[in-house]
Amino acid sequence: MIRNPSLRRRLLLFVSIPLLAVLVCGGIINYVIGLHYANKVYDRWLLDSAQAIGDLVNSDAGRNELSDQARILLQFSVKERNEFAVRSLRYGVLAGNDDLPQPSPKTSHGSPVFTNFLDRGLPMRMASVFLTNKADPGDVLVISTAETINKRRALARELLVSTVPIELLLIGVAMALVWLGINRGLRVLDPLAHEIRMREAGDLSPLRTIDAPLEVQPLVATIDALLGRLDRMLRQQQRFIADAAHQLRTPLAGLRLQAERALADPRPETVREALAHVERLSAGTARAAGQLLALARAQAPDESLGAAAPLDLAKLVREEVAARVPGALAKGIDLGYRGPEHDISVIGDAVLLRELLGNLIDNASRYGARSGAVITVELQPSANGGCTMAVQDNGPGVAPELIPRLGERFFRAVGNGHEGTGLGLAIVREIAERHGAELSIGNHNDPHGLRVEIRFLPLTSV
Ligand SMILES: Nc1ncnc2c1ncn2[C@@H]1O[C@H](COP(=O)(O)OP(=O)(O)O)[C@@H](O)[C@H]1O
Ligand SMILES: [Mg+2]
Repeated sequence: MIRNPSLRRRLLLFVSIPLLAVLVCGGIINYVIGLHYANKVYDRWLLDSAQAIGDLVNSDAGRNELSDQARILLQFSVKERNEFAVRSLRYGVLAGNDDLPQPSPKTSHGSPVFTNFLDRGLPMRMASVFLTNKADPGDVLVISTAETINKRRALARELLVSTVPIELLLIGVAMALVWLGINRGLRVLDPLAHEIRMREAGDLSPLRTIDAPLEVQPLVATIDALLGRLDRMLRQQQRFIADAAHQLRTPLAGLRLQAERALADPRPETVREALAHVERLSAGTARAAGQLLALARAQAPDESLGAAAPLDLAKLVREEVAARVPGALAKGIDLGYRGPEHDISVIGDAVLLRELLGNLIDNASRYGARSGAVITVELQPSANGGCTMAVQDNGPGVAPELIPRLGERFFRAVGNGHEGTGLGLAIVREIAERHGAELSIGNHNDPHGLRVEIRFLPLTSV
């Protein structure tokens, strides 16, 4: 089982790791600063010693010598090694340890010089001062004091160690504060969770009304979009059920009436007439049921046509027209196709597209010219890379003021003398929309009749 990642734990991790890194850096910086000041203090001390020795040996007495007591004092140390050397540029080593390296006075211009060196494996630091020899003004005395540098590091370490408990305490306090802060911060999500929990099952209104924090707004927007889709779907379903009930109730009442008529008057002519009505009514009902189902299919929440493979629309249209030619011929209708023989690719659902074309050809043959009817199905690639499909007849067309209403569910122009549901063009509109295609319906003049066009966009922009 995969555990859901905890936002709290993640935030804590993301905050505490950098925090720890900062504290560790702080420790390192403390150590470096400690070492710097230890160096400064000890360097000062070395220099002062060198100067003090210089003052001793370069006194007005002019003997350039150190007393034995001074020597013992200078070299006394329990753990560390201290060394000193008094040299004359003219007379060589006058006192102290002549193993100490000699600093170059030329580079010094009289100011003190510090040198690091190794003495029997021990790192040492030396301070040297240069004085004019009072006993011999042409000579220069170089006084050097040196010591091991262990104690400097020891001091810096000591400083560091003394701050560790404080740092640890700071880390603990910081983590506790971060934890509290995160817990408190996450509490802003509670009202949203509460609102969702307390909702009525049927309440699909947007959550937007809640004061959700800025960062959660995208989530709220997504939930709202989902609620919106659900709402539309539910409404559509409810409408479909109402439509279906309405569509079936009237013909069923008619059927019942005819049956009652036949039962009441068993004369063969009456029964025959009633049966003829029954046949017509049930055919109409079956057609209405078919149209309702087609509408429901066209409106099915899209499993996105974008994922569908491109299909050859030219082939589909040719096949569909060819299949209807014999039926049309029998009714004296000249049904023809005008369009390219080569492939025309569109992304779409073949079943829905056949349904669309079927509805348009059906309308053209019902409402088109009564005699000498010609129906042309056209397909043309358009300049923008898409294509246009059109169905045109040579009938009376539709009164211009009614044209905007074509495509409304259950809308029928009265007095066309045919039975129908008024769903055909609604289905056509729905299917065109699903394909991102543009539907336009209008009367045409040459020859006069209704022309329905569906303009498909280029493949890439679907
Ligand atoms: N080719 C056409 N010529 C004239 N009128 C048409 C044509 N196609 C549709 N109509 C009109 O539009 C109305 C709606 O058509 P439709 O939605 O297919 O429903 P139905 O065919 O069930 O009546 C029809 O009742 C008819 O009056
Ligand atoms: Mg129709």
